Amino acid sequence: MSHVPSLHVAVIHGPNLNLLGTREPSVYGTVTLAEIDRELLARATKHGATLESFQSNSEGALVDHIHAVAARAKVILINPAAYTHTSVAILDALKAVGVPTIEVHLSNLSQRESFRQTSYTAAACVGTIAGFGARSYYLALDAALAMF
Ligand code: DQA
Repeated sequence: MSHVPSLHVAVIHGPNLNLLGTREPSVYGTVTLAEIDRELLARATKHGATLESFQSNSEGALVDHIHAVAARAKVILINPAAYTHTSVAILDALKAVGVPTIEVHLSNLSQRESFRQTSYTAAACVGTIAGFGARSYYLALDAALAMF
């Protein structure tokens, strides 16, 4: 019997997302990052996919993780958080590894401050899902699963 490799999904969360649940709940909701990661894992498992999650507040650590995870991930879901609006380094890392990537945001950036209207990282992504709170991640996973 031949081995069919499962679809491996890498979820990457940027700075301050470790504080979800208590961080500006009127903007980001009350669901914690651990709850989001648990739900993503449950949903991926149900579809026969594997999934790992990583969070860092450091730009360099996020770049290092993108490099490392590219060897095993078929698709990346990334919420670069504040680095969305500043990071050429994360844009370049995503472009360098070439893994299909979906950008995720809890809040609807179009309704927020002007400095949040620009995403450096979106140029390396297949698409963006924003504005649905924690559900943005679950919709992104649905999109990722539908891609393969
Ligand atoms: C965010 C939006 C960013 O502008 C902000 O810096 C974040 C979270 C979101 O998920 O809505 O930290 O990426």
